[in-house]
Amino acid sequence: MGSQVFSIEGTGGIQFRLWTFPAYRHLLNLNPGFRHPERGDRRPILPLASTSYDGFGKPTGLVLGCLPVGPQHPESDLPNEPELLSIYVTPEARHQGHGTVLIRHLEHRVRTAGSSRLSTVYMTRAGETDSLEHVLRRCNWSIPETRSCVYKGTLHQMQSMPWYVTTMPRHFDICRWVDVSREEISRLRESQMATGWIMPSLVPWYYEGGAIDPTSSVGILYRNEIVGWILNHKIGDNVLRFTCAFVRRDLARLGRLMPALSESVRRAIDVGFHRITFAVSAENSPMIRFAERWMRPWLSFSAETRSAFKDLTGDEKCTAPHRCRVTTVG
Ligand SMILES: CC(C)(COP(=O)(O)OP(=O)(O)OC[C@H]1O[C@@H](n2cnc3c(N)ncnc32)[C@H](O)[C@@H]1OP(=O)(O)O)[C@@H](O)C(=O)NCCC(=O)NCCS
Repeated sequence: MGSQVFSIEGTGGIQFRLWTFPAYRHLLNLNPGFRHPERGDRRPILPLASTSYDGFGKPTGLVLGCLPVGPQHPESDLPNEPELLSIYVTPEARHQGHGTVLIRHLEHRVRTAGSSRLSTVYMTRAGETDSLEHVLRRCNWSIPETRSCVYKGTLHQMQSMPWYVTTMPRHFDICRWVDVSREEISRLRESQMATGWIMPSLVPWYYEGGAIDPTSSVGILYRNEIVGWILNHKIGDNVLRFTCAFVRRDLARLGRLMPALSESVRRAIDVGFHRITFAVSAENSPMIRFAERWMRPWLSFSAETRSAFKDLTGDEKCTAPHRCRVTTVG
């Protein structure tokens, strides 16, 4: 018997909360909101959720996506486009076409809403990514591209890395980021507008909206001028995410980020954090090379985030070998 897929409406999504990531569970109320409010994400979206059922009416999977809605916050120039946020099929229902019809269903809803493109970003997971990428390929999505490398471990593992130091180099100093004045931030913005010296994905004001950890988030000063920052967010009990780490390019070449990172690690331990996670953008190839050589061997976990998209303008018929019924339940 084929699978059926239904759009979820009203409060129907809450019962499937364990079928998406903790960070997306708030979206299952299906009200307009933000993808990552905890990170200060200011891109307004409308969640779209659909569930699949087997021939006996048993739920087998959930796809969660979103459409952009309303005006974007003027300070956020991150793209806001329809996105496949997560997909999950119960282990016993896999390889029967449920994943394929869930993705097709989301494509249909996004196309019906008038959008011409659907994209996704996901993290590689041993034993699971091949299946997802197989489904994407079958649904004519683009070839996935690596966007970032993700690392997880503990602060004590960071302290055992060879670059970890206990003193700052001459002329360098550290301040708490929350103590950096508005005037100094304005000056940074002006110099960025004038010369573009900060890698666009690492400008600090994108990351200030969420509650940054006040103790371990630091500004890096060189001869009393701000030349870098390490901005961290608490993402769970004892878990800290190093969200954004940057130092001016000429100083980065001299390894000046590492003493500041060491200090941030020390401060995080002092306030009780234990585990850490961070991601390095694929476009930041010097940092990827550094992380792969001098950090990953000491950490417990690494993976990639990859992105893919589908152009929805083609008049594509559902070619999946499984029945795809588009229905709405309240
Ligand atoms: C990814 C996922 C949703 C796919 O669901 P599904 O219902 O099994 O998908 P389908 O049955 O439509 O298609 C799966 C296809 O992948 C293929 N496949 C499975 N494992 C594979 C592997 N290791 N390598 C290549 N192809 C693989 C299957 O053979 C099948 O293709 P086929 O129908 O041509 O034989 C499901 O595996 C899942 O929930 N995984 C865990 C959650 C996850 O990783 N989500 C993605 C990140 S959000």
